[in-house]
Amino acid sequence: MLLTLFGKKKEIKRGGSKGEKIAFFGGKGGVGKTTCSASYAVALARRGHKTLLVSTDPAHSVGDLLEVKAGSDPVGAAENLWVREIDPAQASRRYLEEVKGNLKGLAAPGLWQEVERQMDFAADSPGADEAALFDDMVSIILSAESEYDRIVFDTAPTGHTLRLLSLPELMGVWVEGMLARREKTRELHRMLHNVAGVSEDPKDRVHELLERRKNRFASARERLLNPDVTSFHFVLNPERLSILESAKAMDLLKKYGVPVGGVIVNRVLPDEADGAFLARRKEREKVYLEEIGKRFADLPKIRIPLQPEDIRGLSGVAAVAERLEAEGFGSL
Ligand SMILES: Nc1ncnc2c1ncn2[C@@H]1O[C@H](COP(=O)(O)OP(=O)(O)OP(=O)(O)O)[C@@H](O)[C@H]1O
Ligand SMILES: [Mg+2]
Repeated sequence: MLLTLFGKKKEIKRGGSKGEKIAFFGGKGGVGKTTCSASYAVALARRGHKTLLVSTDPAHSVGDLLEVKAGSDPVGAAENLWVREIDPAQASRRYLEEVKGNLKGLAAPGLWQEVERQMDFAADSPGADEAALFDDMVSIILSAESEYDRIVFDTAPTGHTLRLLSLPELMGVWVEGMLARREKTRELHRMLHNVAGVSEDPKDRVHELLERRKNRFASARERLLNPDVTSFHFVLNPERLSILESAKAMDLLKKYGVPVGGVIVNRVLPDEADGAFLARRKEREKVYLEEIGKRFADLPKIRIPLQPEDIRGLSGVAAVAERLEAEGFGSL
């Protein structure tokens, strides 16, 4: 609640529009998510916003694109721009060890075996890597908020990201389950203590720890689902599969209540492209552009032309950044 109030106050002070604090860029594999999210982050930084660009893609390329050695700690890429890359496997290992350590440190030695069992079970369960990735994302969302004006997430291809965004729900259930089990154990201990005539420790730190985790997820979830704070932008190409995948993803995001911001139609054939082959492609493209117009009718859309070369380095993304800025994309 406090976080929300704090965030809202900040938003109002900055006089911003919808979803200006946290921006996600998603879409099908290879459509230009990294290019567009990096360009957006560069445009924000150039406007004087202290910006953090985070990659949650296991196949990181934000660092490659901006030609900086990015890692789990933020690295400066330009004035007002920092870059971080989350490594899901590393996050997963660290997360489980941390939780295990915490729980073991707090639980009575008699329960350690149960803690080990629970955590190994959690490590093997589907989505454990994503849970860890999400935990890192939650940390970034909650801690970077006070340090940065804007946070831009470059995400992995659609399905992976959607699972990630649905995780607060799942994690909530998981923590609830742990809490319920913990209650039962406590009950048992209370009974044993009563029978043995020993008073119990009134402070249950494990319970506290789990509650804290639950509250952290709840805060992050609140931020993610608040249209005044978060926007999920789609990057797509004027091609059949890219449109279909984004349309499906959009339905899911709506179902989860994640606010959708805008659509970047990337790699549109430029007007000056000529020749019989390109003329045919342009005909096809026209149909897809119309379809995009219809399917995403209620969202702001901008077009980025296909460039003659791959986009590389800060100078490479500058052209796309200028375009995003000129069109007032997102909160620019
Ligand atoms: N408008 C464009 N014109 C020319 N090349 C582009 C354009 N947009 C992106 N590219 C190039 O296409 C390739 C893929 O782009 P990018 O890495 O941004 O996609 P992605 O969606 O992040 O991919 P992945 O799903 O693998 O993470 C890169 O080589 C990039 O330079
Ligand atoms: Mg990418």
